[in-house]
Amino acid sequence: MDDRLGIQLNRRTFVGASLAVGGAVAAGPGVAGSDRFEHEHDESTTVVRAQINGEHREIAVDNRTSLVDMLRERAGLPGTKKGCDQGACGACTVLVDGRRINSCLTLAVMHDGAQITTIEGLAEAGRLHPLQQAFIDEDAFQCGYCTPGQIMSGIGCIAEGHANSPAEIREWMSGNICRCGAYTNIVNAVANAARGH
Ligand code: FES
Ligand code: FES
Repeated sequence: MDDRLGIQLNRRTFVGASLAVGGAVAAGPGVAGSDRFEHEHDESTTVVRAQINGEHREIAVDNRTSLVDMLRERAGLPGTKKGCDQGACGACTVLVDGRRINSCLTLAVMHDGAQITTIEGLAEAGRLHPLQQAFIDEDAFQCGYCTPGQIMSGIGCIAEGHANSPAEIREWMSGNICRCGAYTNIVNAVANAARGH
């Protein structure tokens, strides 16, 4: 018997023994591996407690989860859109503690205890937020994919006092890209909402 044959026999013997004990041999390392996985899994998961659209939520997330992914995939709020996933388009804009941010650029675990507002949280008692209504009145969208981010960013822009002229709005909304090119109407909608009509 050469070494190769010896190896084959040994392998065959091992497999036979494993089958003979009903998988117990295979189960041994599997159980240990599973314990290790659960341990690692626990360490890599965090419960984020936050007020989301006025509602207290506790959501367990992998520590690497971005805020946009937590909102869309774990919180059941797909209104926030993911365009580029790298901070270049603004589709994922939400308000965190009143400030507009790109939710794709930040980890969910960094916002434990925060107040988060998404597009789903703007309407009150069945009435649209004035900027939502202004977008409708001004026909400020085509495909609508950028619209939630535009509206959340517009709310931030107005609150910051950066909506005093079309030029200023364009400058301070420049991080929100509209591939349909609805910029003129978007600026009109933000300007009208800033003026209170
Ligand atoms: S998806 Fe966040 S900036 Fe584009
Ligand atoms: S309305 Fe289509 S990307 Fe802005």
